[in-house]
Amino acid sequence: MSGAGWLASPGRALRGEVVVPGDKSVSHRAIMFASLADGVSRIDGFLEGEDARATEAIFRRLGARIETPAAGSRVVHGVGIDGLRAADGPLDCGNAGTAMRLLAGLLAGQSFDSILVGDASLSKRPMRRVTLPLSRMGARIDTGEGGLPPLRIHGGTPLTGVEIATEIASAQVKSALLLAGLYARGRTTVIEPQPTRDYTERMLAAFGWPIDFAPGRASLEGGHRLRATDVRVPADFSSAAFFIVAATLVPGSELRIKRVGMNPRRTGLLHVLRAMGADIHAEAADEQGGEPVADLVVRHAPLRGIEVPVAHVADMIDEFPALFVAAACAEGATVVRGASELRVKESDRIGTVAAGLRALGVRVDETADGATIHGGALGGGRIDSHGDHRVAMAFAVAAQRASGEVAIDDVANVATSFPGFDALAREAGFGLRIAG
Ligand code: S3P
Repeated sequence: MSGAGWLASPGRALRGEVVVPGDKSVSHRAIMFASLADGVSRIDGFLEGEDARATEAIFRRLGARIETPAAGSRVVHGVGIDGLRAADGPLDCGNAGTAMRLLAGLLAGQSFDSILVGDASLSKRPMRRVTLPLSRMGARIDTGEGGLPPLRIHGGTPLTGVEIATEIASAQVKSALLLAGLYARGRTTVIEPQPTRDYTERMLAAFGWPIDFAPGRASLEGGHRLRATDVRVPADFSSAAFFIVAATLVPGSELRIKRVGMNPRRTGLLHVLRAMGADIHAEAADEQGGEPVADLVVRHAPLRGIEVPVAHVADMIDEFPALFVAAACAEGATVVRGASELRVKESDRIGTVAAGLRALGVRVDETADGATIHGGALGGGRIDSHGDHRVAMAFAVAAQRASGEVAIDDVANVATSFPGFDALAREAGFGLRIAG
């Protein structure tokens, strides 16, 4: 996956089967809860990406012993809910917003101080969305200027459970509050403006912590313990999304993506693509580690533009770079609204994807909380992914329909969520090579 850039151009029809790596959200949480549990947990299907490994490295420094019996597997010797110890310096979250925001809540409940730092992209991402609600529980966290990282978390501060209606539909914010709630006196309840992914809730329950939850609401009390349990991480729907869109766009394609995580809070893209005319079938539905999984069989189909229902936005929040590319290849206009969160992801995903599509000759009208993408022919050109893994992969997909070569710069961060993407994509049929 190394190399500063890719050169992408149409390959062949996508056929056969692919298996994409483990879910990033689940991998982060599995390390966290296994580290805090009593006993030894085994994690299989762990994402060997830089983000999940950053969380793993942090928990090692906080005292957990973690073994790697094989790639994609971890054996975690939990230290117990009060067993973490202070690290000997700042904890590096790398590119991982999930690590920094969840740890802000978790570390606010410890007896010791901690400092969380991140890479250049993470250092530009807003943290007040977690520090302000956490302060209502009694947490003391200093941010850098403008509410940005680094975070200085003062330990030894008693936390009290509160009921909080969050302003932003964000699983990271909800999870930060629930993790602080593990250490709080009394009950912590989080009510969301729209339901978001519920892995924290499901996994806390699997590790034996009493928790009530339903879409848009979660509630727990402090003072319990976590029991070691084995976790099987499903394949990441957000990684599958690039293959789903590519197989839809490239004529002659028929691709099976194996055992993809189908948590309904993640699969909004399927509803939207089907409404645009996509031919996607879920087969071999099963359950893996408490999560629904299925094979997705995707055949090429022409797409038409639609207005993306705002109700699906939270359930496809990581899939907009891929959707924008699908929209650029659709007939007519696709309108996205209610997605201002895209402005504060690993890059400003409305701005970076719109700029990239324009560089390929597509008309995109931006708004503060979305865009209108006018479908049409794609030419070649040069794309700056701004270090955003999903933007880089989305343009590798776009290039499969371009009339000229697409040079994609700054792709190293693809390794944060999808190590080996370029090789797997080539195997499936993409025209994609590493630029010199
Ligand atoms: C995540 C939540 C989402 C998502 C991110 C992972 C999580 O972020 O975009 O990739 O694991 O909780 P927000 O909470 O900012 O929406």
